Amino acid sequence: MKVKLRNPDREVELAGGRKVHVILGELGIDPDTVLVIRERELLTREDRCAEADRIEIRPVISGGSGSSHTSNRMKCRRCKAPAVLEVRRHNAAFCRDCFLRHVREQVKRAIEAYDMLHAQDRILVAVSGGKDSLALWDLLLDLGYRADGLYLGLGIGDYSSRSAELVRSFAAERNARLIEIALTEEYGFDIPTAGRKGSRSTCAVCGLSKRYVFNKTAREHGYDVVATGHNLDDEAATLLGNTLRWQTDYIARQFPALPAEEGLARKVKPLYRLSELETAAYAFLRGIDYVVEECPLVAGNTQLRYKEAMNRLEATSPGTKAQFFLSYLDRAAPLFATQDDADLRPCERCDQPTTGRFCAFCRAQAQILGERLGELPGDRELVGQLSDEVMPAELYGAASQ
Ligand code: AMP
Ligand code: FES
Ligand code: ZN
Repeated sequence: MKVKLRNPDREVELAGGRKVHVILGELGIDPDTVLVIRERELLTREDRCAEADRIEIRPVISGGSGSSHTSNRMKCRRCKAPAVLEVRRHNAAFCRDCFLRHVREQVKRAIEAYDMLHAQDRILVAVSGGKDSLALWDLLLDLGYRADGLYLGLGIGDYSSRSAELVRSFAAERNARLIEIALTEEYGFDIPTAGRKGSRSTCAVCGLSKRYVFNKTAREHGYDVVATGHNLDDEAATLLGNTLRWQTDYIARQFPALPAEEGLARKVKPLYRLSELETAAYAFLRGIDYVVEECPLVAGNTQLRYKEAMNRLEATSPGTKAQFFLSYLDRAAPLFATQDDADLRPCERCDQPTTGRFCAFCRAQAQILGERLGELPGDRELVGQLSDEVMPAELYGAASQ
């Protein structure tokens, strides 16, 4: 049988007539980190592949180590039909329809738990072209919300052009409104240049630009709330990183819903109860064409290393991620809540909220473009101090890089 592997794309020939978990075991792949696709259907670990099959193993998470165990042929937990997906942390498998219902229920539960969205809200969904944000947009439209999309062009070569195309065709198919902003046209730099010229890491300046543009666009266009596609794996990895460094101010703001404040739009993450595997399977089963390849600049990103570490724990103890993040929300978050006392005022250049004279985005932009900020003495110094300024994740929500 032929097996197509992704990131990088390649094809290998393996012996067929075996169950999926055996094949994954041979390849050293953790079944919780991939979708196994034959034609247009998903296979569970217990499905058998034939010699003539052609299957695709599509990663949903970076990294992951080999692990597999056996159980009987899987049946849907709700209706007992053959299952298409196993969710090990719930110790359950689902057929297509019951799985889609499970995802919708998790999203509704998230929205209710944090009073995230109301029927009359104008919602701006930040869509990257990846599985999570397109799944989120699809879910919100499906649940009847007034949700428009925002795509930020980061100028990362083919990766960006391909994601833009996928977002556009998603919007066109559903007749949904899409706002597009290109960093280069609007602000004079793209992310690869920012990474080379700025004093921050590429992912840090990318995360800063996203948070800045999401907030600015929401406010300028009168949206009530910005929704992002951060999932359980993202949130658990971010919390792990913040905890390892005991960044209590970030921990305090790592919440699925942040209320609007002076100059800051409300922010929500309705997918925080769903794993990457679940959002990928949802997108696939709904026929959403999303960008499977990863950002080419992501190598060495610390967030990915935290994800890999969490995946290793999850492989031997399913449920670890959910327990870590969801129990943090229930039990630990209140202990950090007092840290959030930033005093905000408008940036002297762009009017967006900041704790200093110029916001972090304007300072980063000035540094990348080699410009001076304002006319007053001391500005040069400010630009020079970029690396030890207050990280604006505090202002624009939890770090997304
Ligand atoms: P990331 O920062 O890549 O982990 O993405 C986190 C969330 O930010 C995604 O789920 C999207 O909601 C949003 N996002 C990321 N990249 C973009 C982009 N280029 N344009 C619009 N939204 C984005
Ligand atoms: Fe931001 Fe790759 S998407 S650096
Ligand atoms: Zn500014």
